[in-house]
Amino acid sequence: MSVRLLRPTTLPLHHPSSLLPILSIRCLQHSSTTPPAKPSHKPFAFAFDIDGVLLHGSTPIPGASQTLHTLNRLSIPYLLLTNGGGLSESKRVSDLSTLLSTNLSVSQFVQSHTPFQLLRSSHSTILVVGGTRDNCRQVARDYGFENVLIPGDIFASHPGVAPFSNIDIYKDFVLPSAGSEKDGVKGTKVDAVFVFNDPRDWALDIQVIVDVLLSEDGVLGTRRRPEVVKKLGHVPVYFSNPDLWWANEYEHPRLGQGGFRAALEGVWNAIAGENLKAETIGKPHPKTYEYAEDVLIRWAGGEGGKGGLERVYMVGDNPASDVAGANGFISKRGVEWISCLVKTGVYRPGDDDGNAKMVVENVKEAVGTVLKREGMDQS
Ligand code: G3P
Ligand code: MG
Repeated sequence: MSVRLLRPTTLPLHHPSSLLPILSIRCLQHSSTTPPAKPSHKPFAFAFDIDGVLLHGSTPIPGASQTLHTLNRLSIPYLLLTNGGGLSESKRVSDLSTLLSTNLSVSQFVQSHTPFQLLRSSHSTILVVGGTRDNCRQVARDYGFENVLIPGDIFASHPGVAPFSNIDIYKDFVLPSAGSEKDGVKGTKVDAVFVFNDPRDWALDIQVIVDVLLSEDGVLGTRRRPEVVKKLGHVPVYFSNPDLWWANEYEHPRLGQGGFRAALEGVWNAIAGENLKAETIGKPHPKTYEYAEDVLIRWAGGEGGKGGLERVYMVGDNPASDVAGANGFISKRGVEWISCLVKTGVYRPGDDDGNAKMVVENVKEAVGTVLKREGMDQS
């Protein structure tokens, strides 16, 4: 199953002419009184991962804010490129601006599901999985997806769907018609499944996804034999983040969306005796880097071309996503992506560093080393 993702030249979000005024107003409301200054042309820029580089959970890593302040002061372009998500870009950026006490713009931010909006016209009714409450439904709607269901709607429509999950958790954010006389969920045709963020109720989410995969062409409540599905296929499934591990404030890395995927794949293999067919974006996948490079070049003032950008330093904590992604990405513009691995997250000294071009203690040392290398004095 191949999915052609359009280049972001057709994007509503990040498109200067259509959304910038709205975005900057929103940023102003949430983050600070002064919109972030657009950086000036430089031959190099940074892409910063968030979890394990700038933050542990919602706690800033020492030196992170100061480092971003230095780059703002020197007008050096940088992008935040995370496999995290679960909230709208503007909400995340305002939260991050507050946490890192730094003016950040939506125009320098890419999260795991941001590129999904390129698929908004490919599927009219989608099942969105992951995140807290129905936040991801709202994000999908903001992206332009018409009809968005979440597993909670299907659970509320028929509580027998997930005998071990607690319906009360879902009551105040599922579709009002779910489970009512005029139940709008029963018999709905789901065209595709999108995992936007780390699921919170694996039991419910895996059950509902399996029901959709085994259904007649996505029609809820219908059923086919696994051998028929094997022959005819199932509705498309998209994951936004392959991370098996990620780093929060706990001393050991935590299972990420990749762990959920592995669990679902195990169940699907047990049912259908075949691998789950799915498309995944997010770091290390080239589509996410291609998308991120477009956003970074636009933020750095280059339209369409390179804007003088020669090198991007990808500062990350995860060899499997941040390092592998930067090392493996071949930019159509010939921009060189250079992996820089920090020790404040998933990666621990002694682990395989994924052949990172630089290994440093933390984000502050990463930027200091690069500025020296680029012949730029920090003072
Ligand atoms: O769920 C988020 C996690 O997988 C990693 O996020 O910021 O380290 O790419 P980040
Ligand atoms: Mg990380």
